[in-house]
Amino acid sequence: MRNVIILGAGLLMTLGAASARADEAADPTVTAHAERLAVGTCGTCHGVRGISQQPKYPRLAGQNPTYLAAQLRAFRGQQRGDPDAIGYMWGMSASLEDGTIDALAAYYAAQPAPTPSTNHDAAMVARGREIYEKGVESAGVPACSACHGPDAHGIADFPRLAGQHAQYVMKQLASFQNNMRNVAVMHGVAQALKVEEMRSVAAFLETLP
Ligand code: HEC
Ligand code: HEC
Repeated sequence: MRNVIILGAGLLMTLGAASARADEAADPTVTAHAERLAVGTCGTCHGVRGISQQPKYPRLAGQNPTYLAAQLRAFRGQQRGDPDAIGYMWGMSASLEDGTIDALAAYYAAQPAPTPSTNHDAAMVARGREIYEKGVESAGVPACSACHGPDAHGIADFPRLAGQHAQYVMKQLASFQNNMRNVAVMHGVAQALKVEEMRSVAAFLETLP
């Protein structure tokens, strides 16, 4: 009996904390502030709806909100540290509050995903698909689809990759490989990838809806 009461109290506290967070994220003032920032500031580079035109700036539209929020916290905490992250995003994120970060993540996640590119060589795209779906067995590279999903739409901590700029994806794979973007799981994946394999998988991803 006593255990049931303690369990019940714990559950109520958990539910209470969860709904407090949800209320915070849905605060209309915070949402409006985040949208102004997204359109007026972030939009200069990422596009007002998160579909940037320049390949240096990642597309954020349709990205998983959990991933987006985690990246903004990683920039703010100065943990995501390749030169472009330092040069562009450390300053941008320095004064963002947690509620604003969550609202920005929700804003981008709700935008329509980018249109796929048709500008890549068919043979390269086919090679990229093979790597994405099967990995490179001889080199111990796992299938990307195992974590990023069969359609590359990702889930939670695993980012969406579909429709991302190939040049950006390529650069991230190189940064994971040399640990400038220091994430153990992706270092393990990218470690043995050859440049040509990175290019192919990046090209394939940009052609996905
Ligand atoms: C002056 C240009 C610029 C502005 C303004 C800017 N960013 Fe960025 N952002 C970048 C660049 C460049 C990168 C890629 C960094 C890298 O290569 O690691 C990036 C990366 C990101 C990422 C990581 C995306 C991913 O797929 O991992 C997020 C999220 C992000 N920016 C959100 C924002 C938000 C929110 C704002 C506004 C508060 C903003 N950015 C303003 C240039 C900019
Ligand atoms: C074991 C799970 C796992 C596998 C397999 C995996 N990834 Fe990832 N990947 C992740 C995680 C987790 C992240 C987020 C890293 C972070 O938090 O910064 C990520 C991030 C990325 C990013 C950065 C996205 C962005 O917007 O900046 C790219 C690009 C990427 N992965 C490509 C690939 C490719 C290509 C493969 C296959 C060769 C692959 N991944 C296989 C887990 C995985």
